[in-house]
Amino acid sequence: MFNIIAPTYDTINKYMTLNSDKSWRKKVSNIVYKKNVKSILDVATGTGDIAFEMAKDNVKIIAIDNANEMLEIAKEKSKDFNTDSIIDFQLDDAENLTFSDNSFDAVTVGFGVRNFEDLKKGLSEMYRVLKPEGQIVILETAVPQTIISKIGYFLHTNLLIPFLGLAIAKNSNAYKYLSKSAKNFPHGERFKEILNETGFCDVAIESETFGVVNIYSANKLINN
Ligand SMILES: C[S@@+](CC[C@H](N)C(=O)[O-])C[C@H]1O[C@@H](n2cnc3c(N)ncnc32)[C@H](O)[C@@H]1O
Repeated sequence: MFNIIAPTYDTINKYMTLNSDKSWRKKVSNIVYKKNVKSILDVATGTGDIAFEMAKDNVKIIAIDNANEMLEIAKEKSKDFNTDSIIDFQLDDAENLTFSDNSFDAVTVGFGVRNFEDLKKGLSEMYRVLKPEGQIVILETAVPQTIISKIGYFLHTNLLIPFLGLAIAKNSNAYKYLSKSAKNFPHGERFKEILNETGFCDVAIESETFGVVNIYSANKLINN
């Protein structure tokens, strides 16, 4: 599905999030750089926007995705960002990562985990490749809790997003799927429990933009 919607992904993202996605990605980067990191794995990187946000001299970033067309766009964009030497875009599966245990200081995922076929497998893989004391930062959709924001959310996910999918990507089904998966994905305290069950500790949740997304951060235990 992501191979099909790749050419219009960035445009729809911008309209769909009313341009808030940029500030969410910046927050992910700020959380990552609260620690001293030299190596980062960006999982389900798509067209690379979180990886670009984190690009810095002397920090090695590997950005993986299993949709080649999304990666092609990321590589094309990296020419403008002048980040060729810093970000290494690779085709890989989040649920079977090809990296050794304890490889990265930080792992990030933006709007990726809810698309995993096996969520626990994907989370365990990210845990495995993190160095002890390494940090994972996950940006993912949530469902707002107040009545007013629930109404706005309902209209947004059921009308605006499928409309944008049809008008721009000529594919309302893909965007209906994205809305539905957002509605059904475990978020907040439930997702925190899943992170704890995977082995992560110190889980923190930051709610953004009336609760439509959450940023989760958590650490790998020292002795794992
Ligand atoms: C909604 S996009 C998010 C892209 C980007 N991280 C962002 O913030 O815009 C989800 C991405 O997850 C990727 N994806 C889904 N399952 C995956 C898996 N098992 N391994 C690697 N990438 C995966 C898709 O190909 C797609 O590019």
